[in-house]
Amino acid sequence: MPETPCRKKILMCPPDFFGVDYVINPWMEGQRGLADAAEARGQWLDLKARVERHADVLLLTPRPGLPDLVFTANAGLASGGNVVISRFRYPERRGEEPLFRDWFETHGYRVIDPPAGLFFEGAGDALYDAARELFWVGRGFRSDAELAPFLEKALDTRVVPLRLTDPRFYHLDTCFCPLPGGFLLYFPEAFDSASRATIEAIVADDKRIPVNGAEAEDFCCNAVALGQAVILNAAMPRLRDRLAQAAFVVEPTPLTQFMKAGGAAKCLTLEL
Ligand code: ARG
Repeated sequence: MPETPCRKKILMCPPDFFGVDYVINPWMEGQRGLADAAEARGQWLDLKARVERHADVLLLTPRPGLPDLVFTANAGLASGGNVVISRFRYPERRGEEPLFRDWFETHGYRVIDPPAGLFFEGAGDALYDAARELFWVGRGFRSDAELAPFLEKALDTRVVPLRLTDPRFYHLDTCFCPLPGGFLLYFPEAFDSASRATIEAIVADDKRIPVNGAEAEDFCCNAVALGQAVILNAAMPRLRDRLAQAAFVVEPTPLTQFMKAGGAAKCLTLEL
């Protein structure tokens, strides 16, 4: 399949002040103060270099005191010059909101706020499926269920809500990744049975690439798909072969320092 002629734009934020300073998801438990800053920087630079082979990377200026600002997937959901800006569930991350807002305003986006009282964590919980022209939206931990009709209107695109049930997979992008050509990489056990049935009704069996618990814990679903490249923390041989059968080229790049905070490749990027 030919790569899209127009290079995508990806927002990233250097990990100058990255660390595990608080606990807001199960991965962070027992990791406070244990992220290695030098290794994190190296891993982030490797990821950036890989992304830059396929897309243009824009940078957000990091800020002390906001250790999770590196996870730009949570800035908002950008689509066609508009951005639905995030409203974080946990106070620990709310200080990021004005920085993300400022970045989008400076770069000419029309900023749309989620309805009053609702939480929304951006592209961490809203993933575009280009083959089906719809957004899959996660709820259950960070983003609110009541957002679906609002997003559908704001984005003028069909929205399919999915309920997350495993606290380790608290954002949709930790366990679900639509790929080009209509393929779907996902961890079925992270969803309730109704959501699993919804996925199976929309995505044909030969397009579904389910992963097991060990693969999911490696953050293999937290992948950045650019053309046929699938950039991720790690993929075991079985998964590499399955993705290769579907004509994808797996590009592993270790992101273990960021996994201590509960994020990997996809969380560290935002498609603009
Ligand atoms: N520590 C961050 C949090 O819990 C990690 C965010 C990961 N981002 C993502 N898109 N899954 O909010």
